[in-house]
Amino acid sequence: MSRTGKPAGKDETLTIIESQQLRKSSARPKTPKTHEMGGTAALKDKLERPELVFTDEVKHKTAAIYEQLKSVIVEAEWPKIAPYIAAINDLKAVRNAVILAHNYMTPDIFHGVADFSGDSLQLAKQAAKTDADVIVQCGVHFMAETAKILNPEKTVLIPDMEAGCSLAESITAEDVQALREAYPGVPIVTYVNTSAAVKAQCDICCTSANALQVVESLNADRVIMVPDKYLAQNVAAQTEVEIIAWEGRCEVHERFTAPQLRSFREAVPGLKIIAHPECPPEVLKEADFAGSTSGMIKWVENMKPENVMLVTECSMSDNVAVEHPDVKFIRPCHLCPHMQRITLPKILDSLLMMGKEVHVDPEIAAQARRSVERMISVTK
Ligand code: 13P
Ligand code: SF4
Repeated sequence: MSRTGKPAGKDETLTIIESQQLRKSSARPKTPKTHEMGGTAALKDKLERPELVFTDEVKHKTAAIYEQLKSVIVEAEWPKIAPYIAAINDLKAVRNAVILAHNYMTPDIFHGVADFSGDSLQLAKQAAKTDADVIVQCGVHFMAETAKILNPEKTVLIPDMEAGCSLAESITAEDVQALREAYPGVPIVTYVNTSAAVKAQCDICCTSANALQVVESLNADRVIMVPDKYLAQNVAAQTEVEIIAWEGRCEVHERFTAPQLRSFREAVPGLKIIAHPECPPEVLKEADFAGSTSGMIKWVENMKPENVMLVTECSMSDNVAVEHPDVKFIRPCHLCPHMQRITLPKILDSLLMMGKEVHVDPEIAAQARRSVERMISVTK
């Protein structure tokens, strides 16, 4: 049963809208591109590429990092990885740059070069606080846009412009306008996994860490939640507020199934299962806990289970396992192809070339900032 006494999964207060229901024409409008490569000014700043050799100096500089990573990176691989880590850490000082890394980054990035790591909410808050001139966002494009929205005067770089997200791709600003027309007066909450243009059209943002709190902060009987259908269903199961959802899904989390989780439980007695709320509701029903990526990490820290399965992107299990050698991680592995685009060589290129720079149209950024800041203020 949910907190409100409503059976989990009950959906009489949930409506799911598909984009075709709202669009007048069959042509799918494209979200305007809000990014471009660093221009000639940035290229003037180009620095010499360092020699990427595993010298004694590099070995010494990275020894403590390898000590931490040795359970997930074999020793034979380290001479290829360490020179990148050393070069990136040196260049951060030259550029006065900070590296923000999502919890799904691979361990070499997460433990090797990140100045700050966290879930989407924590990264957004950190982006709002940083004194650095340059933010290198190691995550997907909507995260880099969020950093730019909160820091219009700073240079925000993303190592690979193609690092997208199936949720962000599932909805456009025009779709949100059509929802407003179809449901006049109903507030619209957008998951942070959306473009700046979509955020600009919505009333408030949310992340997986605060979706229920944001919905209830609006004091409305009905709320539209875009674009994650499963997050919306999972919130609807915990509130009396009527939820109108959008037909968007995370291509990673939608692949987990309830029978798969049950079979792991049967195979590993005492197994604890913790899941991300982007999973379908029947998957969350099988879990011992559901929360944002950082909520899941905190749960492992507090509960110290003997065996645990993190039902989410699999690099996160590697990152958490490094810090919890006594916990056994059972890994049903689904990688996010977009997060995997971010690699150490591309981060190094970003810092050398000051690319790929993320730009957001100032008018769109100002409107989107309202939605993000409103979220931050209701979740303080
Ligand atoms: P978190 O906000 O929980 O980190 O989730 C972001 C995400 O994209 C998960 O797929
Ligand atoms: Fe998007 Fe899913 Fe990848 Fe997260 S895991 S970035 S929601 S596609």
